[in-house]
Amino acid sequence: MTETLDPAGLQQFPGTRAAGCPFDPPPSLHALQKEGPLARVRLWDGATPWLVTRYDEQRALLADPRVSSDATRPGYPIQGPFTGDVVSFILMDDPEHHRLRRMVQAPFTVRRVESMRPAVQQIVDDLIDDLLAGPKPVDLVEAFALPVPSLVICELLGVPYADHGFFQDNSKTIIKRDASPEDRAAAGGRLAEYLDRLVGEKLADPADDLLSKVAERVKTGELTREGAARMGVLLLIAGHETTANMIALGTLALLQNPGQLALLRDSDDPALVAGAVEELLRYLNITHSGRRRVALADIEIAGQVIREGEGIIMPNDIANRDPETFPDPDELDIRRDARRHVAFGFGVHQCLGQPLARMELQVAYSTLYKRIPGLRLATELERIPFKHDGQVYGVYELPVTW
Ligand code: HEM
Repeated sequence: MTETLDPAGLQQFPGTRAAGCPFDPPPSLHALQKEGPLARVRLWDGATPWLVTRYDEQRALLADPRVSSDATRPGYPIQGPFTGDVVSFILMDDPEHHRLRRMVQAPFTVRRVESMRPAVQQIVDDLIDDLLAGPKPVDLVEAFALPVPSLVICELLGVPYADHGFFQDNSKTIIKRDASPEDRAAAGGRLAEYLDRLVGEKLADPADDLLSKVAERVKTGELTREGAARMGVLLLIAGHETTANMIALGTLALLQNPGQLALLRDSDDPALVAGAVEELLRYLNITHSGRRRVALADIEIAGQVIREGEGIIMPNDIANRDPETFPDPDELDIRRDARRHVAFGFGVHQCLGQPLARMELQVAYSTLYKRIPGLRLATELERIPFKHDGQVYGVYELPVTW
């Protein structure tokens, strides 16, 4: 399932970063960006959607109601053989998208998320206590990056954390770009079944958690039981995979930039920490497969016309490295104002969980390096396995010591 950039040759799309810096978009994307804001690319299935390379054009299209997120529409640039499964509202259009999103947005407001900060701090502190008491070297992904967001989303949703091995394994398969359609469908089926059972339990015995609120909508007839389970799957996957990759990859990027790491470690200023999180989100941009859409009408943009039914791919990693928007974009500079980045997307599908992700990253980054000032890689950079095959970029393992 290789997607190729056309006409630039047979480079992979989204492309492996292995050839250059593992934190940078592939050089082929940089080259296309220099050529212009829009290019045609060829995908694994022969489709030739538009690739949008620049920040302004990406934002304009992401905010345009004439572009659709509906993956079942002809022309939608799918990443691999489609199993027909739509993971809830992320792949739907308004008004249905809005109706469903509204049902689950309450716990993700900045105020509600802030009230969770002490509990997240406790989770982070406890995990670091365990790290310090345990053997070294240790895999930071397994011991820290993955448990932090998994514990948080389990608590918020009302999913037993004891089942983390099961849902992490299945999430991994779903977001693996080269998983076979059968494997992906089977993993999706297992997760949907699991969430369906939990929704059933919440229906019978509601608790103070988000899944119980979702189950209430089943009672009122606003959601089918299947729709409730799918929503649970979306929140569970989105809630832990992304943030976990940011914690691990962010740590690696900081270890490779010791000056920046020292700035962050030695500061008690919450504004500097918040700024560092925004800059790491901009610089690393883990959702590198791009926002994918299909045009619902002819759209004129940057001197081109995207015709109705044509696919559109907007890799946010390259938009976040647009020199017109971010001077010296390939520099990691935690003191720059990076807040305009599109790491959380833009428009109506902009990440629902972003206040939560921000807060978790702020707590994780501001605590880990202070409490373990001697943190360092326990292997060479070249030996670290990067997720070139994932829809979410990151590292499979991060062996560290101190
Ligand atoms: C650093 C961590 C995260 C990153 C980089 C990230 C990135 C994104 C991006 C780029 C989108 C837009 C998708 C599109 O436009 O097609 C998105 C949507 C979404 N994210 Fe996140 N996300 C993160 C954390 C979270 C967390 C913690 C949750 C909590 C449940 C979450 C839940 C969602 C949901 C539900 C959507 C779909 C929104 C919609 O379609 O209206 N994300 N995320």
